[in-house]
Amino acid sequence: MKLGIFGVGYVGLVTAVCLADKGHSIFIHDTAKEKIATLQSGGVPIFEEGLEQILHQNRNRLFFTHDARKVISECEIIFICTGTPQDEKGNADLSQVESAVNEITSHSLSDKIIVIKSTVPPGTTEQMEQLANKQTSATNFLFVHNPEFLRQGKAVYDFMNPSRIILGASDKKAQEILKNIYSAWDAPILQTDSKSAELLKYAANSFLAMKISYINMISQLSDSLGTNIDDIASGIGLDPRIGSDFLKTGIGFGGSCFPKDLKALENGQKIMG
Ligand SMILES: NC(=O)c1ccc[n+]([C@@H]2O[C@H](COP(=O)([O-])OP(=O)(O)OC[C@H]3O[C@@H](n4cnc5c(N)ncnc54)[C@H](O)[C@@H]3O)[C@@H](O)[C@H]2O)c1
Repeated sequence: MKLGIFGVGYVGLVTAVCLADKGHSIFIHDTAKEKIATLQSGGVPIFEEGLEQILHQNRNRLFFTHDARKVISECEIIFICTGTPQDEKGNADLSQVESAVNEITSHSLSDKIIVIKSTVPPGTTEQMEQLANKQTSATNFLFVHNPEFLRQGKAVYDFMNPSRIILGASDKKAQEILKNIYSAWDAPILQTDSKSAELLKYAANSFLAMKISYINMISQLSDSLGTNIDDIASGIGLDPRIGSDFLKTGIGFGGSCFPKDLKALENGQKIMG
């Protein structure tokens, strides 16, 4: 199948090469001209274990282009993987997602399924779908929210071995088409509405961040009592209801997603009632 990607950062590039590895032809656009130029000339702009190898193995199925309209005209299904950085109020800045959606909806001559992989606040996908379909009656746009859970450093492994695949949409037909694409993966597929899928992603990230903060809090108590925090963390983690992941004491949570996603959740950012 021909699939489009807008935004070739961590999530977009890994999504592109992994979908290509399952046999799809992938048309990829990014507004950052240097990234597309690097990829066109055979370079890889980021380091991820296994990424370069899987990219080169699937080179004949990956088409990198400066021309957004080429992706729009070739593909019925387009994944949006643009950034949603934190704005000055602590909310998710949706401008990259909005400009990608506008580009697609204003230049489409046929119906599209737009898959938002970017992390967006509850209500975003629904609102974008309504706005897109208000603009024109000639073409129909179905939106799906398909949050991504990969870890930087293990991105290719995580994309190829997901613990679950979430498909949030109001339209069953779009969900079924995506389900069919993801049937090449051995993972449970949860189908829900888009708003639930959006909140689910924030809830998952905040739960993991909470585990890190929790063990650090227990570590402080352990220090004051002179007890062994490593034994305590192991003992807690052996309970299958809790699990041992994210129970290592350290400097606290960080990275490109946890702080911004937690702030947006804390702010209660939502797009529609
Ligand atoms: N990085 C992660 O580990 C991770 C994991 C899960 C989810 N996410 C989420 O996925 C989304 C993407 O994250 P990322 O780390 O890949 O971001 P990134 O900043 O690395 O990449 C975003 C890319 O989108 C491009 N872009 C911006 N506007 C565009 C437009 N209108 N058209 C085409 N391309 C455009 C940028 O030039 C950039 O290359 C975010 O919402 C993030 O929260 C990230």
